[in-house]
Amino acid sequence: MIALSDNDAKDGLNMKVIVDTPEGIAKQAAAIYQEILKDKPNAVLGFATGSTPLDLYAQLIKLYEAGEISFKDVTTFNLDEYVGLEPTHDQSYRYFMDTNLFTHIDLDPARVHIPSGIDTDAATLAAYDEAIAEAGGIDMQLLGIGCNGHIGFNEPGTPLESLTHVVELTQNTREVNARFFDSLDDVPTHAATMGIKTVMNARKLLLIALGESKAEAVYQTIKGPVSSACPASVLQLHPDAVVFLDEAAASKL
Ligand code: GLP
Repeated sequence: MIALSDNDAKDGLNMKVIVDTPEGIAKQAAAIYQEILKDKPNAVLGFATGSTPLDLYAQLIKLYEAGEISFKDVTTFNLDEYVGLEPTHDQSYRYFMDTNLFTHIDLDPARVHIPSGIDTDAATLAAYDEAIAEAGGIDMQLLGIGCNGHIGFNEPGTPLESLTHVVELTQNTREVNARFFDSLDDVPTHAATMGIKTVMNARKLLLIALGESKAEAVYQTIKGPVSSACPASVLQLHPDAVVFLDEAAASKL
């Protein structure tokens, strides 16, 4: 483990950047969940989808099966969902979370929250932020990052003050995610996502980036200006953000 910057040169930059192998990252990140749940068994956890957190989810399941972690009293909020996909659709983020984590651990399904891809009226979107506030706020929000620096589905240009809202996905994001669908035409054009402010309201942020394709976005996130051109750069302003990178994702730093 190499700590690249723990309080970097820039004023106010509290980001802790850790470079490790993907396996090491999954273990270190899972250990952070263990710590949080030891202190607060009823923590509110924000989860993310994508290929990046899969090793971490496998590690959390392993720890649960070994009796080393429990999600019994945990409440969860996921970042985002494709508009138009029913929860049962095999590419919906609800289905992803059920398949890759939720059905393998002792989480109460009644305490799982994922933005609806079907009801996307303003009141339903606002209710998502209200539910987070009612739960006491998110203790730790997990994040991946898009090749263009998006977090959740907050594409470049999204206002830093945004709450949960519907976004139009960029062509690039749809192309990158087309690998999971039969064709590009099948990739939804819109998504419901926590806003950047919703994410920033979490008490702790844990971003994981793996692979060369993320290197430029990672560089802009850590070394670039705080700008909606790279939504993840807002992490520089968060008081407790941990960024895990593999060598390839860290290659431009
Ligand atoms: C998707 C998700 C993001 C995720 C990103 C990266 O578009 N909305 O939350 O972080 O893409 O995905 P991956 O981890 O597969 O590279």
